[in-house]
Amino acid sequence: MTSPENLAQIGVVGLAVMGSNLARNFARNGHTVAVYNRSPEKTRDLIAEHGDEGTFLASETVEDFVASLERPRKAIIMVQAGAATDAVINQLADAMEDGDIIIDGGNALYSDTIRREREMAERNRHFVGAGISGGEEGALNGPSIMPGGPKESWETLGPLLESVAAVVDGTPCVTHIGPDGAGHFVKMVHNGIEYADMQVIGEAYQLLRYGAGMSPAEISEVFREWNSGDLDSYLIEITAEVLAQVDAETGKPLIDVIVDAAGQKGTGRWTVKAALDLGIPVTGIGEAVFARALSSSLEQRAAAQGVLPAGELATFESLGLDRDAFIEDVRRALYASKLVAYAQGFDEIRAGSAEHAWDVDPRDLATIWRGGCIIRAKFLNRIVEAYDADPQLPSLLLDAYFLDELRDLIDSWRRVIVAATQLGLPVPVFASSLSYYDSLRAERLPAAVIQGQRDYFGAHTYGRVDKPGAFHTLWSGDRSEIEV
Ligand code: ATR
Repeated sequence: MTSPENLAQIGVVGLAVMGSNLARNFARNGHTVAVYNRSPEKTRDLIAEHGDEGTFLASETVEDFVASLERPRKAIIMVQAGAATDAVINQLADAMEDGDIIIDGGNALYSDTIRREREMAERNRHFVGAGISGGEEGALNGPSIMPGGPKESWETLGPLLESVAAVVDGTPCVTHIGPDGAGHFVKMVHNGIEYADMQVIGEAYQLLRYGAGMSPAEISEVFREWNSGDLDSYLIEITAEVLAQVDAETGKPLIDVIVDAAGQKGTGRWTVKAALDLGIPVTGIGEAVFARALSSSLEQRAAAQGVLPAGELATFESLGLDRDAFIEDVRRALYASKLVAYAQGFDEIRAGSAEHAWDVDPRDLATIWRGGCIIRAKFLNRIVEAYDADPQLPSLLLDAYFLDELRDLIDSWRRVIVAATQLGLPVPVFASSLSYYDSLRAERLPAAVIQGQRDYFGAHTYGRVDKPGAFHTLWSGDRSEIEV
């Protein structure tokens, strides 16, 4: 039995890599950490390998684990999403008492989090769905943490989470995002943005490699240089590393040995599904998710290769392109497309927040994404400033700083899309982001045609630009207009 003065401030359930790294992070920061895993070997391994990094209280039953926690008890679950998470939540809730806090640190779907919080509230347990970003390394050395759940839980939990989160300019990368599913929703969109961010870097690579004919090593150097400017980010930095890597077995660039079929675990897809339900165009994220799906459609790709006619393709030389100028154009196209993806992601968060009355502050998100997480980037400081200047900004693209940037980027962006088309290189996010941008700024959209069609075949009615009301043309009659 554990003596009362020897209780743990925090517990971690689920000691696979993310869970054990998080437990070690708490222990290294001076907390006594209770640990439990369904199979006791993982618990024993953690204690054997890292027990000297701090104070751990290891248990082999849920009951002992719960008994080893100081009240109100705080236990973070880091187990598989879905049924495993539900099972562990219920085991903990059975052993816990009123006011204790269960934190789900996995990648749960926000609607599951909403349900779980409701169920736990009925049992007088606090439930906090917390998005944790940063992968294994982040969990150990400082992740970005996005906790939802009741505000009261944050009072207790806040200082603990702040002590393990990444810190940028003295500010910990964690804050209470909003009630119930807000934290997991925001983490989901964060991952969606990550998909788009990764894809635009991929598209830049594709253009430089197969358009400008540069080697992976040369492109790695270009990315290194970009990493010291506006595009300074973790993803650009690691891409430079990946491209510089040489395969030990073949001596080829590693990138040429890796199968070009991208995997996904589902958070990007969830982001797009939620956006569809909210009616928010997240075209950059959507194209990025579809690009991964297309890349993995290996049979279809094999059937199409050498069969689908390419038409008359240009070459880099025949287009008279200058390599350095092209590199700079690609950098600008990447920047602009990335800006669109972030703007759209923030639109989705605003819409989700309004739908669920979460009151999420977008400025907070940009602040806590500056460190610890995969999309950490210098650029996020600009987003913080944009929301400082106008918390109600209708679109990030309309912030004064970004408008200035876009004035510099737009011509390069258009040139890159034209060149990509002539070279026959796919740039789904670059191109769709430009279409989104041109749609936003268009005075007239072809939606008027759609409304005409809808009225013709389904009497769905249309509005008129010159007066209020709903109108219908008697298409199969005398084609006069009636107000309905
Ligand atoms: P990995 O990251 O090693 O692939 P995983 O299968 O995703 O692991 O599972 C992550 C964690 O969820 C593990 O701690 C796992 O416990 P075990 O080590 O006992 O497998 C835990 N987990 C999965 N399903 C569980 C369940 N139904 N009940 C309790 N814990 C579960």
